[in-house]
Amino acid sequence: MRKKIVAGNWKCNTTVPAGVELAKAVVAAVNASGDPEVEVVVCPPFVHLTSVAAEVTGSRVRTGAQNCAAEPKGAFTGEVSAEMVKSAGAEYVILGHSERREYYGETSATLNKKLAQAFAQGLTPVYCCGEPLPLREAGSQNEFVKKQLDETIFLLPEADFRKLVIAYEPIWAIGTGKTASAAQAQEMHSFIRGAIADKYGRKVADEISILYGGSCKSSNAKELFANPDVDGGLIGGASLDPADFLGIVNGFKG
Ligand code: 13P
Repeated sequence: MRKKIVAGNWKCNTTVPAGVELAKAVVAAVNASGDPEVEVVVCPPFVHLTSVAAEVTGSRVRTGAQNCAAEPKGAFTGEVSAEMVKSAGAEYVILGHSERREYYGETSATLNKKLAQAFAQGLTPVYCCGEPLPLREAGSQNEFVKKQLDETIFLLPEADFRKLVIAYEPIWAIGTGKTASAAQAQEMHSFIRGAIADKYGRKVADEISILYGGSCKSSNAKELFANPDVDGGLIGGASLDPADFLGIVNGFKG
């Protein structure tokens, strides 16, 4: 069944103690008044994972990592494997974020190895895709995103594909305060779902959660989440503020 999901990507923010406090505040807010139909996930930096996972244990809040290594283990200084992430308590892992593609040269080939590692550990990948501004301005966003999908997750066998979550994050909307309009989000999500239907069939397409990311806040979540193909959000800046994050979690409520 298609899940509604709101996931916070904390990116490179908060110390470990501040992250634990933030997780505590998110749990309190979600327990008090979070929409019970929404799966809530927090994705702190690696070094916070164990403490944050312990903090959210027993609550409805789940934990995810922001990345994982392409290799299972070995002499890869500074890398953190999917197995480590899993053993620290994460259930999700964000893969292919545009910041990783852009600043750390992550290619489709690397991502395919990371996806394989995530699946091998039973983690749920949150696979990110999305176009840069010049492509949006040229009207080529669909072709760009389709190519990203074709080179990565569309190579997966159906059994794996069905387990992942997709996040559409137009790069021009990330951290810019410039959100895609509800119509732009719906148009792309519907395009992605259609491409999934072409590849894996309508039933699979209808079961995949497609999240929107890019300057999503409590003030615009309702409008974005009202779209039939928007199943939640991957939230950056606003996930650092428990009240704003709670407002997004409750963005499906009428
Ligand atoms: P912002 O919500 O800060 O725009 O970030 C979105 C994002 O990149 C989530 O992964």
